[in-house]
Amino acid sequence: MTQRETWTSRVGFILAAVGSAVGLGNIWRFPYMSAENGGAAFLVVYLIAAALIGLPAILAEFVVGRETKKNVVDAFRNLGGPAAALIGVLGLFTGFWLLSYYSVVGGWVIQYMTGSLTGAYFGGPEAYFGQISEGTGTILFHAIFMVVTIGIVAAGVEKGIEVGTKIMVPSIAILMIGMAAWAFTLDGAGAGYEYFLSPDFSVIAENYQSIIPDAVGQALFSLSLGMGAMVTYASYLDGDDNLLSDGISITVLNTFVGVLAGFVVFPLLFAQNIDPGDAGAGAVFVTLAQAFAELPAGRIIGFVFFLVLLIAALSSAISLLEVVVSYFVDNFDVSRPILTVGIGTVVFLLGVPSALSIDTFTMFDMIANNILLPLGVVLTILFVGWIYGGGAVAELRRGLGSTSGFGPVWLWHIRTVVFLAVLGTLALSIMTFMSA
Ligand code: PHE
Repeated sequence: MTQRETWTSRVGFILAAVGSAVGLGNIWRFPYMSAENGGAAFLVVYLIAAALIGLPAILAEFVVGRETKKNVVDAFRNLGGPAAALIGVLGLFTGFWLLSYYSVVGGWVIQYMTGSLTGAYFGGPEAYFGQISEGTGTILFHAIFMVVTIGIVAAGVEKGIEVGTKIMVPSIAILMIGMAAWAFTLDGAGAGYEYFLSPDFSVIAENYQSIIPDAVGQALFSLSLGMGAMVTYASYLDGDDNLLSDGISITVLNTFVGVLAGFVVFPLLFAQNIDPGDAGAGAVFVTLAQAFAELPAGRIIGFVFFLVLLIAALSSAISLLEVVVSYFVDNFDVSRPILTVGIGTVVFLLGVPSALSIDTFTMFDMIANNILLPLGVVLTILFVGWIYGGGAVAELRRGLGSTSGFGPVWLWHIRTVVFLAVLGTLALSIMTFMSA
């Protein structure tokens, strides 16, 4: 068997992890979750959740990956035996499941990108969404998205994922900053900033039962937690870098892109007098498309916006596929390209029902977000906090240097605060799922 690959540099690891984190979650989900939860009030709770729950939880996945240098199933098995390996198996399953419909959205984004240039949706964004979101055309674009994802992952950790994300992540940041600067010049942008940035604390007081779990859930999803993506990426680390400072860089960059998305989306909506509260899940594809249709520079801005969304989706999709590919590469004596094409084909087929019916799509999305991912996070935290425990602290401390006193504090924090927060999120998610 060939030697296991590693990142060529620390920056390579950080950018790959940021690429995984920054995705549809930041640019599509974050603005509409904010809108559903009272705008700025949500932002405040989200920032707290990212720092107090997201960051400690990402460190939990990092230590599992770096200590074992194994794919998600074998990593948990090495540390905790066959029962723990089941957490990894759940991760593999979630990888297949989530990527199958994430790629369908990737396909929609391609159609909006071209549709922006041609003005295809300008006559009626809602009707366009209906047209492109289900049917044989949808399958075709889902296939195109999967082919690109497979191409990058097949090229390997260094030459595919690391090189790819080194180009993709800076492009996302630069294009988003450019768009946010443009949005600043719009008439009515001020109302958008006001909505996004000046919190009404009474909204939090009245709606904390929904705002807190939504913010925690968003922080976990956005950091790609609960299915082993961060375990897998950390398993390609070589050396003793400071995981805390890497985790902070990743969390901050991820949050930065989400906030930037707000700086683009809200001024745009307010400039066109569109109420963000009406947007819902169609926010990007219907409401924002309507704003592009009405603006003079709409074609080009729309194109750039959907291009960024596509790059972001792609850099996350490769991490989903890599979780599964990594398991097979570690365990079977078959070449990575062949395994990647095989696994990618299975994922593609699993996504076909979602491409054919938006109801099936919604069901896949609900199961992933409300059950699979939060369950994965709860089990990971339970395992790392209470079973792996002292070993996890020792692993985290490698590289912490003078801040190594943080180790035990982190351990007790994930055992208590993080565990209760993710357990509560899981319970509420399951309740939402049952009542849907
Ligand atoms: N973090 C990604 C996003 O925000 C989604 C994702 C979740 C990717 C879990 C990998 C694993 O879109």
